[in-house]
Amino acid sequence: MSYEEAAAVPVGGLNALRFLRKGNIQSGQKVLINGAGGSIGTIAVQLAKSFDAEVTAVDSTRKLDMLRSIGADQVIDYTQEDFTKNEQRYDLILDVAAYRSIFDYKRALSPKGIYVMVGGSMARIFQAMFLGPWISMTGSKKMGILAAKPNKDLAFLKELLEASKVVPVIDRRYTLSEVPEALRYFGEGHAKGKVVITV
Ligand SMILES: NC(=O)c1ccc[n+]([C@@H]2O[C@H](COP(=O)([O-])OP(=O)(O)OC[C@H]3O[C@@H](n4cnc5c(N)ncnc54)[C@H](OP(=O)(O)O)[C@@H]3O)[C@@H](O)[C@H]2O)c1
Repeated sequence: MSYEEAAAVPVGGLNALRFLRKGNIQSGQKVLINGAGGSIGTIAVQLAKSFDAEVTAVDSTRKLDMLRSIGADQVIDYTQEDFTKNEQRYDLILDVAAYRSIFDYKRALSPKGIYVMVGGSMARIFQAMFLGPWISMTGSKKMGILAAKPNKDLAFLKELLEASKVVPVIDRRYTLSEVPEALRYFGEGHAKGKVVITV
């Protein structure tokens, strides 16, 4: 790997792996990743495929071809379709972009499905913090923001990278003197995968 490719892996990759494991990902499951085209999502899609899951990736129109190219079985354009309103049910939803009510996500889960919130609006984060434990206690579905601790996952990711089961997606590369522009672009929140600085 180049230094740029290596730099694009750890933050998104470790978070993706920890949250998929917190969601108890299993082979053959239907997994949906909402916000799949960003830093965490692009690696989460590939990791979920390496766990032999059937992966649906949700993001905006211009990211869908890239998501197909990294292995997503189905893609949904969130600007055109609300995945919580179709008939499909998922065993695991990893949500990097939570902007809907927790009850919409609950409807999209299979009877024993798990919903893991990673990021989104503050209102939705608070809703998952307070209502998630109650929903999890009173039914068969599990929902919430699940804390994940650092461990030796980087070694696991290294093996997947060496086997080309995970390939980092780099949107743009900037030189050190272009850092202000890099931060501006990154701050807009629409990057396709990662933005890297070449030192
Ligand atoms: N819980 C934790 O411990 C933890 C750890 C790390 C990060 N986080 C959180 O994770 C989030 C950042 O993840 P990231 O670095 O992967 O973000 P990112 O690179 O900005 O990716 C977010 C993706 O979501 C898409 N998106 C935006 N609105 C959407 C919608 N309504 N439906 C579906 N997709 C949508 C964006 O696409 P477009 O905008 O281009 O359409 C983008 O591709 C932050 O909220 C951060 O706080 C949480």
